[in-house]
Amino acid sequence: MTKHDAIKQHYSMQGLLEKIKAGLALREKTPDNVEPSDLAMVDEFHVRGRDATLDLFRTLKIKPGDQVLDVGSGLGGPARVAFNQFAANVTGIDLSDVYTEVGNELNRWLNISDRIRLIQGNALDLPFDSATFDSCYSLHVSMNIEDKAGLYSGICRVLKPGAKLGIYDILKSENEELLFPVPWADDNSTSFLASPEELGVLLSNAGFQLESMEDDSQKCLSWMKRAREKNNKAGGAPPLGLHTILGPSAPDRVRNLVKNISAGTARVAQIIARKV
Ligand SMILES: C[S@@+](CC[C@H](N)C(=O)[O-])C[C@H]1O[C@@H](n2cnc3c(N)ncnc32)[C@H](O)[C@@H]1O
Repeated sequence: MTKHDAIKQHYSMQGLLEKIKAGLALREKTPDNVEPSDLAMVDEFHVRGRDATLDLFRTLKIKPGDQVLDVGSGLGGPARVAFNQFAANVTGIDLSDVYTEVGNELNRWLNISDRIRLIQGNALDLPFDSATFDSCYSLHVSMNIEDKAGLYSGICRVLKPGAKLGIYDILKSENEELLFPVPWADDNSTSFLASPEELGVLLSNAGFQLESMEDDSQKCLSWMKRAREKNNKAGGAPPLGLHTILGPSAPDRVRNLVKNISAGTARVAQIIARKV
């Protein structure tokens, strides 16, 4: 199996839509009465969930009517936030056909499928004209992408001059080994973390000027601790969560992520860069 196929398979939970429907049913929700907030525990596949998405979009200053690109759009949770709360027109691209199909179905449930376009494709081969987008964001995606120079130069090409890129990603510390499995990979054959320094150089070489890089690691650890305490108090995980997307290995993967961040082997950062 190629690395590409292995990554695609990692993000291909079978029966995902039915699992989401079953989780919603436990809260007496159906496709007819579901609201975006009911999906937040499952459609935001990154640490600090919707809080992190809102922080990123506010820093990125997404404006009503902006044409925004979501690279690695997953189930479309961040895209729905960009549309619902910032009135942006969003195009998302994701390697996983399962996530893309489920994400488009969730948009149909919410009657917004004419406003958000989620397409299946590779972030390394963006099928868009040059200078199409007013901004771009990518949350927890580049960890699976080895060719980061190709990734950022492709994004730079499709952005208008002066447009901003917002990244929310897991970065590494130099020369340290991660504990696996983690939410994005079983081992280092499909995990490619950059250090903050490497990312700065990659962005600059791709045609961006770095505006800010904020380390969110402590915020993430506190958020995950609060989530754990809430689950313990409730006697288990909520009906929808990372376990819906990743299956029974989810707790192990999250535990290792917490250990990696606590040890300083991995860190979580919000980055803003501008196309020069
Ligand atoms: C951890 S999930 C994050 C999804 C979404 N950004 C979010 O925060 O909810 C990582 C996503 O990156 C996508 N991905 C990984 N490699 C990709 C590539 N080369 N091109 C497009 N998407 C990719 C996966 O399919 C998956 O949906």
